[in-house]
Amino acid sequence: MRSCVRAVSGTAQRLHMSPVCVSQSFAVVARSLSFSPCCRVTYDASFQSVSYGSDHPRVLITGGLGQLGVGLAKLLRKVFGKYNVILSDIRKPPNHVYQSGPFIYSDILDYKNLREIVVNNRITWLIHYSALLSAVGEANVSLARDVNITGLHNVLDIAGEHGLRLFVPSSIGAFGPSSPRNPTPDLCIQRPRTIYGVSKVHAELMGEYYHHRLGLDFRCLRYPGIISADSQPGGGTTDYAVQIFHDAVKTGKFVCNLRPDTRLPMMFIDDCLRATLEVLEAPAEVLGMRTYNISAMSFTPEELVREIRRHLPDLQVTYKIDPVRQAIADSWPEMFDDTSARSDWGWKHGYGLPELVQAMLNFTGSDSRMSQAN
Ligand SMILES: NC(=O)c1ccc[n+]([C@@H]2O[C@H](COP(=O)([O-])OP(=O)(O)OC[C@H]3O[C@@H](n4cnc5c(N)ncnc54)[C@H](O)[C@@H]3O)[C@@H](O)[C@H]2O)c1
Repeated sequence: MRSCVRAVSGTAQRLHMSPVCVSQSFAVVARSLSFSPCCRVTYDASFQSVSYGSDHPRVLITGGLGQLGVGLAKLLRKVFGKYNVILSDIRKPPNHVYQSGPFIYSDILDYKNLREIVVNNRITWLIHYSALLSAVGEANVSLARDVNITGLHNVLDIAGEHGLRLFVPSSIGAFGPSSPRNPTPDLCIQRPRTIYGVSKVHAELMGEYYHHRLGLDFRCLRYPGIISADSQPGGGTTDYAVQIFHDAVKTGKFVCNLRPDTRLPMMFIDDCLRATLEVLEAPAEVLGMRTYNISAMSFTPEELVREIRRHLPDLQVTYKIDPVRQAIADSWPEMFDDTSARSDWGWKHGYGLPELVQAMLNFTGSDSRMSQAN
């Protein structure tokens, strides 16, 4: 009970309300969120980010074996120490990941197991990467609904109960055909037509609701399509922009599943991971919003092919359109407006299209082909 009183008076200060008034609102909200504030909340909990002072945060990454999690763990471990960052997933980690730092099994649909991990490891930051991406989600809507929506509810409740800083990525997929597409601002109509997009809008709104109503330290970036060399994409609409590099180097041929003029916002993984760390470290007072667009570049398949051919002139590309992915891409932003991220917390991208292509070709080991070409 003492913890409830402490949480309530902290919330009261933040909301400039009397503790009694907040206590009543908290009880009503907690009831409507179907948990009792005094039975699930642990002794230390408050709806306030735990202050870690000079200590490093203790980070848990869910869905960490996908395209982005391993790279993020590597970056965060460099900054906060190897044992302060725990990767988790429902899949078996490859050897190099298992040996690189702490890994634990966690199914985000198992609420009790997730809570146990957070409590036993004294987690202070939760980075929620588990998801079914756009194309995979359309192929399995009920699983996408479970993982992307029910899973998010578990994560929100646990973050709220244990005073965690919670990062949930959103996506260009959170917009739809009625959104302005070029440029797409932070605040505009969002009527996505995929289960992935609907779940991302839901995550943005739920996180912001918990933040404004209960003081949860929720932070969210809308990522563009992310391009990486050493990790495979997980079934999104922008996957072609990763696959093309592997095929260009291995076979010199690529079959593209989007039309040559399909313009989408994209970002190199190093920029994406750095943005994630920067927004997580930003002082709360600079965050004028809790969900930000971030942008680096925007290109079409034919523009990407042109840039790759500057290094690999013999690359052959044919187009075999996947109607599901094309319909999704046609409803998404062509270009993000990320003015607020730049002005509020200093976001600045490092890679444009030429730098991205150079970095990807360097990594995918195209040296021999490049020297033949030159
Ligand atoms: N990669 C991109 O281009 C991109 C763009 C925008 C947003 N995002 C978002 O970033 C996050 C990470 O993306 P990613 O590309 O690494 O995704 P991914 O599909 O590569 O990986 C997702 C991971 O979630 C795991 N997962 C699935 N069900 C789970 C469950 N029940 N419990 C725990 N884990 C489960 C999977 O095993 C997988 O390893 C996602 O939320 C995604 O929506 C990614």
